[in-house]
Amino acid sequence: MKHLVAPSLLAANFLRLEEEIGTVNQSQADLFHVDVMDGDFVPNISFGFSIIRQISSVAEKPLDVHLMISKPERYLKEFKASGADWLSVHYETCPHLHRTIQQIRDLEMKPGVVINPHNNVELLTGIIPEVDYVLLMSVNPGYGGQQFIPSTYERIRTLAEMKKQLNPALLIEVDGGVTEHNAKALTEAGADILVAGSSVFKAMDPSEAISRLKNPS
Ligand code: DX5
Ligand code: ZN
Repeated sequence: MKHLVAPSLLAANFLRLEEEIGTVNQSQADLFHVDVMDGDFVPNISFGFSIIRQISSVAEKPLDVHLMISKPERYLKEFKASGADWLSVHYETCPHLHRTIQQIRDLEMKPGVVINPHNNVELLTGIIPEVDYVLLMSVNPGYGGQQFIPSTYERIRTLAEMKKQLNPALLIEVDGGVTEHNAKALTEAGADILVAGSSVFKAMDPSEAISRLKNPS
């Protein structure tokens, strides 16, 4: 399978959001990555339901919503109602992760689990058969525009081995510091989905930047 590209709207210009979404609609991108931050689990606040609802009203590709919030199980229905198609929760925020993942699936969204850079992928052995994707953070969550953490490559390779046994259909998503310069190495290591914020929306030509992530050389 050719890898997917998910531009992160966190780096978009919010004064021109509809135009930025239109650019992604017309591009080779596969998904919209939507980052929700609560100022508690992460030291930053992004946006909530009303913005996501407006995004979904003009987005022509699925919304991949990444929850960086404490106790995400409180709001699963609201994210579905706002237009989320894929919904990921952090391993670090879910004491009853298995139940939360089942609830996301019952709401007819694709469930994913996210882990922070300090956590070993082996922690996910029990949940990998239950999820559609694992999101590996390649920066510490909370901000766009940070430096990629190189140990991510090894984490992707380990997870790619694990998925062979546990869930061959699993997709491996990588988020943080992804650019046209590391895209090829990431997909060669086993990444199936590349999330990119700054390297898309701060580029002179975002559509061209998406093409380079989709066809890295
Ligand atoms: C960070 C978010 C990312 C962020 C990536 O906490 O999860 O999705 O938007 O931004 P870049 O691509 O600029 O590192
Ligand atoms: Zn994200």
